Amino acid sequence: MNRSSIHDPACLAAYNRSMASSGGTRSPESLESLRARALGELKAAAGDGLEAWRTEYLGRRGSVTQVLRSISSVAVQDRARFGAAANALRNELEAAFEARAAAGGSRPAGLPDRIDVTLPGRRPLKGRLHPTTRTIRDIAAAFGAMGFQVIEGPEVEYDYYNFSALNIPHDHPARDMWDTLWIDQPAGHDGPGDRSKGGQQVLLRTDTSSVQTRILLRTHTSPMQARVMETTRPPIRVIVPGRCYRYEATDATHEWHFHQVEGLAVAEGITFADLKGTLYEFARRVFGVDRKVRFRCDYFPFVEPGVDMAIDWKGQWLEVMGAGMVHPKVLAGAGVDPEKYTGFAFGMGVERVAMLRHGIDDIRLFAGNDLRFLSQF
Ligand code: DAH
Repeated sequence: MNRSSIHDPACLAAYNRSMASSGGTRSPESLESLRARALGELKAAAGDGLEAWRTEYLGRRGSVTQVLRSISSVAVQDRARFGAAANALRNELEAAFEARAAAGGSRPAGLPDRIDVTLPGRRPLKGRLHPTTRTIRDIAAAFGAMGFQVIEGPEVEYDYYNFSALNIPHDHPARDMWDTLWIDQPAGHDGPGDRSKGGQQVLLRTDTSSVQTRILLRTHTSPMQARVMETTRPPIRVIVPGRCYRYEATDATHEWHFHQVEGLAVAEGITFADLKGTLYEFARRVFGVDRKVRFRCDYFPFVEPGVDMAIDWKGQWLEVMGAGMVHPKVLAGAGVDPEKYTGFAFGMGVERVAMLRHGIDDIRLFAGNDLRFLSQF
């Protein structure tokens, strides 16, 4: 039997004639090349692509459907043969589509249906501690080993604790060292001594003028020196990590918010030698056992004498903290007898410690939330 076939040259001729006479803009394509193109694309189609393929070839406006529609315009003598060939093509493509869809269509043909178990796995993205947190923990571990307790204090603080209790009266030029962010206060707020509002009763020992009750974002962690001494009897050994704020322009070494760790030791008979020994041990533990330290005189209103401590770092001296013997006025102001007790205090910038240890050259990276930076720690 002479079956019509898409390989039949007469079919192509008939089809070409019909496309030409119907004024088709497409250049006519033989049923055979249409078939080759369709089957080729079907092999590579997967997922959504499979449905797109069906629309393109078998859909209402699909290429094969259009060929079938054009049968009526084929010359009468060729019509039967051409129609049979076109129908055969449609049936073949439909069957091929069903088979491909049944196979899942998920894996493009030609890919091996095996899993290579020797491929290394993909690492899940794990969270990790922020470099600031890690540094605080390292500092806390160093002082913890020397018997210091870790406590925290309020970031929103009274003028009194931030300045006055630390021997910085409100007209003292030393306030210029701490550019301050002030908090707007509701009218009628009486500050730390105000019992009627349910606030904690705190005695303002030095000055009860309204200036003392203004509220600010603490500019350093030192206010906790006074708060701890007011509520704890010596011997005291604490460190206070926490966030601080300053009203200043930012650059590579200045941020408007950052962290400090404050330290305070108060007991009978504490001397400057204890301060040096403690801070030297800290430097060894946090910066390495070969570290040398240098103490130089410095001025902070709440210590006497005051020093800055530097460590040797790549051939240079780098200042890492301020420290000193707690000023007798600060002891007395917080209710600790300066005739009986002495103490030392220190304060350091956490980001600065981290920058030294890891060679970070811009403090703004710490709060920049850039994973390229954070994932290095
Ligand atoms: N609070 C000081 C600052 O922010 C640092 C400091 C210096 C703290 C000397 C101290 C100290 O406890 O004794 O710059």
